[in-house]
Amino acid sequence: MSSLVRFGVSVEEELLSRFDRLIQKEAYANRSEAIRDLIREHLVKREWVEGKEVAGTITLVYDHHRRELVNKLTDIQHDFHNLVISSQHIHLDHDNCLEVVVVKGTASEVNDLAHRLKSTKGVKYGALNMATTGRELV
Ligand code: NI
Repeated sequence: MSSLVRFGVSVEEELLSRFDRLIQKEAYANRSEAIRDLIREHLVKREWVEGKEVAGTITLVYDHHRRELVNKLTDIQHDFHNLVISSQHIHLDHDNCLEVVVVKGTASEVNDLAHRLKSTKGVKYGALNMATTGRELV
């Protein structure tokens, strides 16, 4: 485990009070915890920009009755089988399915897969949650 370091930060009073109000709403225990999260968020963003190995989830909502669409989404996942760790299919209601695809790979490959799935005709909603393998974070 890495040791804790204290450091001072100069910031405009108004900016700090807005930050404090925000983190209070978000139920942070203290500023340190909120700032640690901001730093981690920034580092994870860089992992994606720099094309590192990343992990994430792709969420899709689509109409279950469009059989050709279901096949197409499965075909695309097979094309990228080296990235797909697992997928979960949830029957939301009579018509709608929600699928969560858990992925790990280089940022550009994962982005390609997400775009291919989201842009498939008939997908009502598609989103990529850009997470991290956690290896470069503490
Ligand atoms: Ni379904």
